[in-house]
Amino acid sequence: MCGIVGISGRDDAAPLILEALRRLEYRGYDSAGIATLTGHHIDRRRAPGKLSKLAEVLAKHPLSGRTGIGHTRWATHGAPTESNAHPHASARVALVHNGIIENFRELRDELRAKGHKFESETDTEVAVHLVTDYLDHGLAPEEAAKEAVRRLTGAYALAMIFTDEEGLVIGARKGSPLAVGYAEKEAYLGSDAFALAPFTNRVSYLEDGDVAVLRGPQVSIYNESGAPANREIKITSATAGLVDKAGFNHFMAKEIHEQPEVVGHTLAHYIDATGPFVSLREKGAMEALGKASRLMISACGTSYYAALVGKYWFEKFARLGVEVDVASELRYRDPVYPKDGVALFISQSGETADTLAALRDAKAQGQTTIAIVNVTESSIAREADVVLPTFAGPEIGVASTKAFTCQLAVLASLAIAAGRARGIIDKAQEAKLCASLLETPRHMVEFAKQDAKVKALGVELAKARDVLYLGRGVNFPLAMEGALKLKEISYIHAEGYAAGEMKHGPIALIDENVPIIVMAPHDAVFEKTISNMQESMARGGKVVLISDARGISAAGQQAWATIEVPETDELIAPLVYSLPMQMLAYHTAVAKGTDVDQPRNLAKSVTVE
Ligand code: AGP
Repeated sequence: MCGIVGISGRDDAAPLILEALRRLEYRGYDSAGIATLTGHHIDRRRAPGKLSKLAEVLAKHPLSGRTGIGHTRWATHGAPTESNAHPHASARVALVHNGIIENFRELRDELRAKGHKFESETDTEVAVHLVTDYLDHGLAPEEAAKEAVRRLTGAYALAMIFTDEEGLVIGARKGSPLAVGYAEKEAYLGSDAFALAPFTNRVSYLEDGDVAVLRGPQVSIYNESGAPANREIKITSATAGLVDKAGFNHFMAKEIHEQPEVVGHTLAHYIDATGPFVSLREKGAMEALGKASRLMISACGTSYYAALVGKYWFEKFARLGVEVDVASELRYRDPVYPKDGVALFISQSGETADTLAALRDAKAQGQTTIAIVNVTESSIAREADVVLPTFAGPEIGVASTKAFTCQLAVLASLAIAAGRARGIIDKAQEAKLCASLLETPRHMVEFAKQDAKVKALGVELAKARDVLYLGRGVNFPLAMEGALKLKEISYIHAEGYAAGEMKHGPIALIDENVPIIVMAPHDAVFEKTISNMQESMARGGKVVLISDARGISAAGQQAWATIEVPETDELIAPLVYSLPMQMLAYHTAVAKGTDVDQPRNLAKSVTVE
């Protein structure tokens, strides 16, 4: 949830750290700070608010020194103030942290009893005083760091520098990601390879319990028991070019419009167009799904809604029973897993703490674990038995868009392949389904032409206080995803409901002030959904009907507004109908003037529970 950086370099570290932090701002932007070793002493600059505020402070009060650490924060303990901003420091050590130290209260009491004075409300500061305490008792920095992290429980990635220790940066990882970057004359620490891309593409990822000691280009890594450890150095795909908006006003707008391309890339990886048929290059998935008695799918947020769509497809095309649960529930409810089960985890970042914990539990219970991830150098990717990548490219906007439709593309391909492996569909049916899937990018391009109409509707929707989204069947999860998009970027309360559920209570919410977004492709449940729509309109509800030409012709007359989507096969409707959901939320948020790419209180990757 926060981004951390460390540099043991040959040039002034502060400007490089600032560049790396810019690439980590998607992980959190409540406050930021940098500390360097200037001469023999630690010097710090910190600022509440976005990274640009820290840059302003540094412009007025530059930091010198070639040894440094930096942090961009998503607040967990303590308000986003300067005093709570990282790096936290004592006279002897400065430290940045991503994660949560769960036993910080007892450690703080213990350290206060020893005379340590705390200046912040954060959990992180106990790590500073714990290391300092070991230093005060004569331990060398490396030993002090190792002893201190052994006392911490919870999830952390740490980077720290020490007074009188030019060139020394120490990192530690447990539960939150931390990468080591290698270059000819310096070494780096970063929350991910993307942060280090401007400096190096040679990266290794620490494992839980590891401590890394950087002295210039020299790197020593020790495992949890203190023994030297080798971590493979990989050439990462993270690009050095800072992802830009390519002329769009927001990353979210750019990423919405990239979907035809990136969904096309993703489908090209999983579908051999010569058949067409699904061609899974990643071994293990089909062997597991072919014989599984049940499939568990788990994720968080938007990825969870992708999981719910996947359930419809696996049960329809593979006749495979599917259970779906949010990872934050699954990890604690002691689920009953079958002995030959498969557990599928979906995550754009691959670092969501709840999803990672649920994956570890499923693996410990003998499940074959499959992960659909966008960041293939992530913790979830490294720990799953089988990794199925999405090819969405870096998704910077906090609201997930292109990653979601790429997840759906992988899920649809996987469900079709599972159907074939389980003898439920034949080659002709597979070819028909794959041909439909391959039409998705074209339909998305077609729909994007409606942007001006959706924008005008967004201006109207921005006046609403509450909005309902309705869908049936495979479009019910899409209704919930549409509601999440709206609330997370426009701050308007919204709920997604199964259309058939309205008469069981929610219809009491309906009056002329409540817009209802109804997703109703002209499919097998169209008439039922239109009946629900009419029940809402009879009570004054302002309905926005999203359907194809046939659906709008049949039921659009009384609607407050209509949005026409190209006529698509039922299979790909969720992918294509994602666009009106996303664009409507985007234009509503722009009309409201909220921060579309970095909405309040949120971060792109939730690496704490
Ligand atoms: C989606 O728009 C949200 N930003 C959020 O719900 C996100 O989908 C969720 O935190 C899961 O993230 P992940 O896919 O990286 O695991």
